[in-house]
Amino acid sequence: MTANPSILLTGGAGFIGSHTCLALCAAGFEPVILDNFSNSSPAVLERLQRLRGQAVVCERGDVGDTALVQTVIERHGIAAVIHFAGFKAVGESVAKPLKYYANNLGGMVSLLQGMDAAGCRTLVFSSSATVYGDPASVPITEDFPRSHTNPYGHSKLVGEDIMAAMRIANPAWRMGVLRYFNPVGAHPSGLIGEDPLGIPDNLMPYVTQVAVGQRPHLNVYGNDYATPDGTGVRDYIHVQDLAAGHVAAVQALLGRGESFTVNLGTGRGHSVLEVVHAFEQNSGRPVPYQIAPRRPGDVAQCYANPALAHRLLGWQAHHTLDDMCADAWRWQSQNPSGYR
Ligand code: NAD
Ligand code: UD1
Repeated sequence: MTANPSILLTGGAGFIGSHTCLALCAAGFEPVILDNFSNSSPAVLERLQRLRGQAVVCERGDVGDTALVQTVIERHGIAAVIHFAGFKAVGESVAKPLKYYANNLGGMVSLLQGMDAAGCRTLVFSSSATVYGDPASVPITEDFPRSHTNPYGHSKLVGEDIMAAMRIANPAWRMGVLRYFNPVGAHPSGLIGEDPLGIPDNLMPYVTQVAVGQRPHLNVYGNDYATPDGTGVRDYIHVQDLAAGHVAAVQALLGRGESFTVNLGTGRGHSVLEVVHAFEQNSGRPVPYQIAPRRPGDVAQCYANPALAHRLLGWQAHHTLDDMCADAWRWQSQNPSGYR
């Protein structure tokens, strides 16, 4: 490995990309962001500069522009790419499937073409626990059968398959598939965090907006699941742990060089009501809630067996649910309107 290898982060201005950007800097890498700001704000760049003490290079553009991808890789001497860029709203993907297939799969194909043309064949991909569909049991290991229930999930599953096909075609590709469970929390500085546009779909950003007074109450989607308190159980993982997982993935690919697919989760499940109570304790704010009908497509329980990531990457999550709530609250209370 050369000193300070440059890593391209497609979608690096987003929630997970921005935290990974700082983790890469701390580990001695030079991040280069490629983002079209379709779901993020350029204001994040100024925050990253403050936290790093130095500007982060950002190329504004679309990963669907293959020539641009090739140019950016060659211009910056990119050693590896982390592919975050994509759309992620499950409900919207059901209403607008082509928007999701075009950006998530068209983006993947374009990226691979640009990387191939530039001779850069080391890639880490943001996949999701959504590829396990409704798991037959928990905890989930990587060899569980994959399925999908919506176009977003389908795009992640096919994205993984496209990568596998490329490895068969040319074994020089080194690829890491990271299946994230439920990323939450924020940088402990409170300067960067999750900034959803409109009404949040996901639990933690909804809870923080209720706590800050932007929404009257949380709807808890179902309390009749076969779980200890009847509410859905998920594997919430601090975005700082997730960012560290990306650093470990890049180090493994640039070092040992073997491709892998791993879960990034804590291995612990927490119910919706556990999250609500932990958030109240860590924020000192009430989170009023009402029990609402189940959300279509939700599963009762979903949590990881993260042992393979520990074995292959030497990575494991360290932050607790209290850390996740405290950091999410610091970000939300210091930035009630996000980056706007
Ligand atoms: P995000 O929306 O905050 O970040 C995605 C970034 O990609 C945004 O900055 C957006 O502007 C950019 N982008 C989108 N399309 C682009 C394109 N065509 N060209 C260039 N930039 C583009 O999302 P996130 O939460 O940081 O998620 C990152 C990745 O992780 C996504 O692929 C998502 O599907 C995946 N993922 C996220 C979660 C989660 O809960 N956040 C869970 C599992 C997987
Ligand atoms: C959702 C997506 C999944 C995606 C993941 C990360 C669905 C069906 N799945 O997972 O594909 O990878 O986000 O972005 O959308 N909840 C409430 N009230 C709310 C919001 C959520 O009770 O207002 C509950 C849900 O029923 C669930 C838990 O909180 O039990 C977590 O929900 P959420 O944050 O949306 O994540 P997932 O459904 O696990």
